[in-house]
Amino acid sequence: VALAGRSHEDFLQCLSLSSDNTLSISTLVYAPSTPSYSSVLEFTIQNLRFNTSSTPKPLVIVTPTKVTEAQATVSCSRKHNMRIRIRSGGHDYEGLSYVAPLPFVVLDLINLRTITIDVGSNTAWVQSGATLGELYYQISQKSRTLAFPAGVCPTVGVGGHFSGGGYGLLFRKYGLAADNIIDALIIDAKGNVRDRASMGEDHFWAIRGGGGNTFGVVIAWKLRLVQVPPTVTLFSVPRTVEQNATNLIYRWQFVGKKLPQDLMLQVILSKSNTTGLASFNALFLGGVDRLLPLMQERFPELGLVKEDCREMSWIEAQVTFATSFASNVSLNVLINRNSSFRGNFKGKSDYVMTPITEKALEGIWENFRQLESVNMVMTPYGGKMSEISPYSIPFPHRAGVLYEIGYAVAWIEGTSNASQRYIGLTRKLYNYMTPYVSKNPRAAYVNYRDLDIGMNNEDYTSYRQARVWGIKYFGNNFDRLVHVKTKVDPTNFFRNEQSVPAV
Ligand code: FDA
Repeated sequence: VALAGRSHEDFLQCLSLSSDNTLSISTLVYAPSTPSYSSVLEFTIQNLRFNTSSTPKPLVIVTPTKVTEAQATVSCSRKHNMRIRIRSGGHDYEGLSYVAPLPFVVLDLINLRTITIDVGSNTAWVQSGATLGELYYQISQKSRTLAFPAGVCPTVGVGGHFSGGGYGLLFRKYGLAADNIIDALIIDAKGNVRDRASMGEDHFWAIRGGGGNTFGVVIAWKLRLVQVPPTVTLFSVPRTVEQNATNLIYRWQFVGKKLPQDLMLQVILSKSNTTGLASFNALFLGGVDRLLPLMQERFPELGLVKEDCREMSWIEAQVTFATSFASNVSLNVLINRNSSFRGNFKGKSDYVMTPITEKALEGIWENFRQLESVNMVMTPYGGKMSEISPYSIPFPHRAGVLYEIGYAVAWIEGTSNASQRYIGLTRKLYNYMTPYVSKNPRAAYVNYRDLDIGMNNEDYTSYRQARVWGIKYFGNNFDRLVHVKTKVDPTNFFRNEQSVPAV
């Protein structure tokens, strides 16, 4: 404790000495004695499992408003041996952006959130503290036919999301968010600011999907915006087990990947009262007149009718998806940072390579029985995702994949007993799925962070140990990531329980 206290004092003194006097850095620094410390810390915490009285708390939170202040935070942390955790939107499934072994500092980028859209060149610069909702909102203020292919939940931060890939409704047409990044500004492990040209292509490759808190602090991303038609169509068709949901999911496995890339037809499995529910949710880049015959031809079993469909602009579709298909919701929901889902949850992911039998699908409903709340989001591949090389960025899950599954199990009771119980049941569901998903390795998505698949040691981690989880997230790209990390951060300054190690 005494040591932690000293490093904290030294760290603060270092920060104040590096302050350039135009703005007092003391107003941007929160220590546990600061009255607003807890509210600043808790503001973006999504997973309440990591907001208990026994969760380790940062000695200091720094919320820079200028890049120089973020640089000073990196340099002083390094000098005074404080671990650093970078936080943008705070959505990390395992809380790694704000929980670490003591002593540590949280570099919270919430005040660095400027977004500049250039409709002339179809590009945008977005600072890491901005959310997806803020980005979408700003794009929509400039154009009805420009968009960006990233996640659905508006409060997700671009800092973490783009560092791990980032997929959403446009991914069959345009790939991942990280596939559409064309430049970036980062602070490297020495505290220097670098752009694409000065960091070099290897380093630039690694930050687009190689995981956060590993290759530097991303301050801003430059994006290539994509085209969408002025009118898109969406629908959400729910079917219970009694309404033949299991057979429809089985059939969908043969359809989803082969649909034209203008159509994303996701299936979300959940629990409704005592029965299982499959929601067939779609975004189509075109009007209902084209969508209906297409669905009639490719997936007549769903029985889609015109009344199920709603035409709107792309930005309205983002809002509608974000609010679980509510009607007439204001666009302001996109810029409301309080609108997010918060709860106790455990997440996992899987990649399915061949269709799962109907009998095996039935067993999923059995596993849902003991759960309070569960979502299994099945996202079909194909389209652009099958065309991009698995080596183009660190995210490797491309052509052979039929669909991805994101598991999210949530519960209300905030006790450690409840957590243990529901995490146990999540693992049971995941174990049940073992025969039906990718193998050797069983692949996973780094943005659905799951510490069950392997972890680093607190200090030194060998290549061999990190490879256990590393190849699940990154496949054959893991070795190149280790190579880049060793070059750009040889002392492993930026690290967490699942950061690619320097060796
Ligand atoms: P957070 O700030 O917690 O950061 C996540 C990780 O990146 C941490 O390791 C952190 O240290 C690091 N990091 C953050 N900012 C950084 C920076 N500027 N530079 C370097 N490292 C940085 N995913 C998806 O693909 N599609 C989706 O639709 C969704 N939807 C979704 C909904 C909800 C409710 C949740 C909780 C999560 C998702 N996700 C998702 C997963 C999401 O993409 C993932 O959690 C991202 O890492 C979150 O990024 P944040 O910046 O919000 O998190």
